[in-house]
Amino acid sequence: MAPMTNGQSHDDGTLGDDEYRWLVRRAKEGFGIIFTCAAHVTQEGQGWPGELGIWNDDHISGLKRLADGIHQCGSLAIVQIFHGGARSPESLTGVPPWSASAHTMTVGSKEVQVKEGTIEDIENVTAAFVDAAVRAHQAGMDGIELHAAHGYLLHQFISSATNQRQDAYGGNFENRIRLLRYILKRIQEVVPSDFLIGVRISPEDKYSFKGIDFDESLQLAKILQGDGADFLDISTWDSFAAPQKYPDSNKPIISWFREKLGQEYPLLVAGEIWSAQDAQKALDLGANFVSLGRVAIGVADWPTQAKSPEYQPPRPPYRTSQLRDADLGDAFIEYMKRWKGFVSNE
Ligand SMILES: Cc1cc2nc3c(=O)[nH]c(=O)nc-3n(C[C@H](O)[C@H](O)[C@H](O)COP(=O)(O)O)c2cc1C
Repeated sequence: MAPMTNGQSHDDGTLGDDEYRWLVRRAKEGFGIIFTCAAHVTQEGQGWPGELGIWNDDHISGLKRLADGIHQCGSLAIVQIFHGGARSPESLTGVPPWSASAHTMTVGSKEVQVKEGTIEDIENVTAAFVDAAVRAHQAGMDGIELHAAHGYLLHQFISSATNQRQDAYGGNFENRIRLLRYILKRIQEVVPSDFLIGVRISPEDKYSFKGIDFDESLQLAKILQGDGADFLDISTWDSFAAPQKYPDSNKPIISWFREKLGQEYPLLVAGEIWSAQDAQKALDLGANFVSLGRVAIGVADWPTQAKSPEYQPPRPPYRTSQLRDADLGDAFIEYMKRWKGFVSNE
């Protein structure tokens, strides 16, 4: 199951009962790997209300309960860790956001001033990512995923649009990917080698997040493989689409990455996988793992149903009662009402 923000934890970042229930239910139903939502590594890096935190030792006991619950069902538990950067609103964190470079961001009708991070900020956030990984390990999780996708801090550093720094962390491609590689290396130094460390990237621009070049993404994947990342998770939003840069290639994004990384390297893909046939198609195109987002919210028992190759799950809109039966709590249902067409108005 793909990492999904659900707003069901407590204001202080400790695990909420509803977050536990929704994740463990998916493990019980046979999802083999359960990713948590993006969990913030510092208080100032929080992106959303009700978000799971991993910035303090007080968070460990909830994470341990979650890891134990998932393991009892025989699945793996991985925490996705992140810092929101420019996308950590001051209204939530109490401090102005920072990023690779200073810029003005439009949020709704408001203009938000984003500061440029200092070298001290970079060192501090690196240490926070390392501490978060150690906490995940202490909690008995099987691994972590560095969230370098979707316009959050690590993505903002990779992007040539949001990273205009003049120092070793900005400018050319090698410098823009330095922070991600540095964090990966520092985590590898302190956790055992069987603790999984993966990376999620956005392979190209999507929505308002600009500055990612597809060829650079392929190069980054190869570099991360060489750096010893245990898996790569590509957030395509459409697993079967060709890259925007090569629309006539007739070759889906996943196949480009498979060719770049060789046959054996663990590759996860998410985006528009609904049916058992979609999942099989993504595997045939080169993914080793298919990661389910929206369908896993609405259809808790997807893994059992999808044993039948003809299975076609119900698609959104889902009724509130259906979502409750699928173990979503009120906060998550309210959040999903903001996703156009996801919850029906019954
Ligand atoms: C409600 C919701 C919350 C999400 N939160 C996260 C998140 O915390 N981290 C992340 O990397 N992706 C997040 N995503 C993206 C999903 O992991 C996934 O890549 C995306 O939904 C595409 O897969 P799908 O077409 O199966 O939904 C979220 C998606 C949804 C629908």
